[in-house]
Amino acid sequence: MSADQTPQNSAATTGVPTGSAAPAASQMWGGRFARGPAAIMEKINASIGFDKRLADQDIAGSKAHAAMLAKQGIISQADADAIIAGLDRVKAEIDAGSFTFKVELEDIHMNVEARLAELIGEPAKRLHTGRSRNDQVATDFKLWVRDAIDRTIAGLTALQAALIDLAEQHTGTVMPGFTHLQAAQPISFAHHLLAYVEMFGRDRSRFRDARCRLNECPLGSAALAGTPYPIDRFMTAEALGFNRPTANSLDAVSDRDFALEYLSAASICAMHLSRFAEEIVIWCSAQFRFIKLSDAFTTGSSIMPQKKNPDAAELVRAKAGRVIGSLNSLLIAMKGLPLAYSKDMQEDKEPVFEADDTLALCIAAMEGMVRDMQPNVPAMREAADRGFLNATDLADWLVRELDMPFREAHHVTGRAVKAAEDRRVGLTDLSLAELQAIEPRITEAVYPALSIEASLNSRTSFGGPAPVRVQEAVKAARERFL
Ligand code: ARG
Repeated sequence: MSADQTPQNSAATTGVPTGSAAPAASQMWGGRFARGPAAIMEKINASIGFDKRLADQDIAGSKAHAAMLAKQGIISQADADAIIAGLDRVKAEIDAGSFTFKVELEDIHMNVEARLAELIGEPAKRLHTGRSRNDQVATDFKLWVRDAIDRTIAGLTALQAALIDLAEQHTGTVMPGFTHLQAAQPISFAHHLLAYVEMFGRDRSRFRDARCRLNECPLGSAALAGTPYPIDRFMTAEALGFNRPTANSLDAVSDRDFALEYLSAASICAMHLSRFAEEIVIWCSAQFRFIKLSDAFTTGSSIMPQKKNPDAAELVRAKAGRVIGSLNSLLIAMKGLPLAYSKDMQEDKEPVFEADDTLALCIAAMEGMVRDMQPNVPAMREAADRGFLNATDLADWLVRELDMPFREAHHVTGRAVKAAEDRRVGLTDLSLAELQAIEPRITEAVYPALSIEASLNSRTSFGGPAPVRVQEAVKAARERFL
């Protein structure tokens, strides 16, 4: 079982002692403790059930710290060499699944250090010189969130690629554009897909911004007040890929802004995915039939044989709640905390892990659905004939050809729509006599302007849906995002 899969603090894994004999005091701080914690204390205090996911980052941080201690003459080179080789062995055990995580050792930091001591003995006791678990956990967690940001950006890029590939084939595929989910004006399927490409592009830039601000190294801030040892914080910062060390030791161990920024960006992204998922659900419905999802992304009903349900899209729509909930829960955990570290901050990890797992799953599922979906071009075209999508075009024609003020043209068009509605036909089905009864100056020349294709082709403003613009937009999106 890998570090990521082991169940959390369930009764079976907590190893909470049940006998009456008091447990022994901790090896890490047992000096002033006569006995160990109550079983329930151990259970509430331990984070190993989830922070084992920081194992790689913890080991990388400790290796950088040990190398720096030796370089600065704080520990011997021989001790540093033993520590670094030992940490590699610990990592190999964790990777192989043979490492035993112990609840009584509380968290990943002490689990790794205790195992290191078992493996290499004496030198392991020198590793914790000039640092504390407070700067250690801040460093580990930043490294983890930084990796999560990089993975998320890669996932979003793949999703954008799928959208752009599909858009490229559908710049001429007419569909109704909606406001209030009421048919509004003609657009193309490509134009609609590219709207999401923009949204995911902004998500990527939010993650990128968060990464820039995150990238300062807390290591060496120690418990809260730095250390008297002649450490080199620039060296460890560089070794771990940070731009610089954090500037204030108190802030460094108190700050979880990086996690909150990650969760904020993740929440906005999950909201975007949820909106897209909702559209997929709508498009798949028998009332719309704009797209079809294959068996790969749908499920059947146990009772209604005709059903093909878009479950994956529905789940993406719902899972945004977990991500937004994670942001909320960490904001609440952090508000009102005095400087510097408080144990409340141990509650930072699970929301971030949960949000990251959820977001990665949702992004991958959406990419899968985009690659899977079969657009129903005739159904979209047919839908564009309903709902008077060309009403604005009639008003625009009156403005252009008759020099009518737009407000008046709007009113005239409204009367034409009413006449067509009464006869249950479209605007182009009204005879010239019928149109002239509303506005005598209307001529035959109005009809070509009212075709849906003409309407779409005419919307050539920058950022608009005319096929010429959207072809350019597809190319530009490839250059900007892929
Ligand atoms: N497991 C702790 C956490 O995740 C590590 C830091 C503990 N520091 C302390 N002073 N008790 O926050």
